[in-house]
Amino acid sequence: NVPIITVDGPSGAGKGTLSAKLAFSYKWHFLDSGAIYRVLAVAALHHGIELDDQTGLSPLASGLDVTFESSDIGTRVILEGEDVTEDIRNEVIGNAASKVAAIPLVREALLRRQRSFAETPGLVADGRDMGTVVFPSAVAKIYLTASPEARAQRRFEELKAKGLDVKISRLLEDIKARDARDAGRSTAPLRAAEDAYELDSTGLSVIQVFEKAKQFIDS
Ligand code: CDP
Repeated sequence: NVPIITVDGPSGAGKGTLSAKLAFSYKWHFLDSGAIYRVLAVAALHHGIELDDQTGLSPLASGLDVTFESSDIGTRVILEGEDVTEDIRNEVIGNAASKVAAIPLVREALLRRQRSFAETPGLVADGRDMGTVVFPSAVAKIYLTASPEARAQRRFEELKAKGLDVKISRLLEDIKARDARDAGRSTAPLRAAEDAYELDSTGLSVIQVFEKAKQFIDS
C-alpha cells in the first residue's frame, strides 16, 4: 500500500503551494486533481460539448487523453498532444472546471485515473475530495483553509506579479461564489474529512504553513 497525504480545501487557500512543497520534500509523486477538472473543461470547449451535458462529458472524462510531463522546471500538461499548461490556469477555465466537477458521472469517471497516481514511494494529492472520496485511507489528511479576504489578497498579488490589474473586491466576490458552488453541490461537496488536520493559513507565511503541516504528518 502506497502512503498518501491528502491536501483539501477551498480555492486559493494555498493547497497547490503546500502540496508541491510536501511532494518535493518527501520526493513523492504529486496529483493536482484540479488540473484534471480544468483539462476536462478545456476538452469540452474544444469538442463543443456543453458544460452541463453529462451524456457528452462522461465519456469525454473516461477517455480523456491527458498527460502530465514533470521535469525540474515544473509540469507541462498535454491534452490530445497539445500543450495546455497555461490555458488551463485562467479564471474562465477555473469556473468551467467547477461546473463540470458538479456532475456525479464526471467525478465517477475520473476516480480511477486519479487513483492511478498512487505509486511508490508515495503520493501527495491536492484537491477538494482527496481525503473524503478519492483516497479515504490516506495516512495523513490536511484541510487547508484561509479567510476569503486572505485568499483574495493572495490571488491579487499573484495577478499583480503577472502584470494584471484587478480589483480585490471583484476577486473576493469570485472566491465567495466559487466557495458557495463547491460547498453547495450535491456530489462530493467541499468539506473536511473527519480525521483531517484543519490548518488555517490566514496570516501565516508559506514556510510556516509547510512547517505546521510537516509537524502534523511526522507526528
Ligand atoms: O485554484 P482553485 O482551487 O480555484 O482551482 P483547482 O484546484 O484547480 O480546481 C478547479 C475547480 O475544480 C474547483 O473550483 C472545483 O470545483 C473543482 N475540483 C473538484 O471538484 N474536485 C477536485 N478534487 C479538484 C477540483
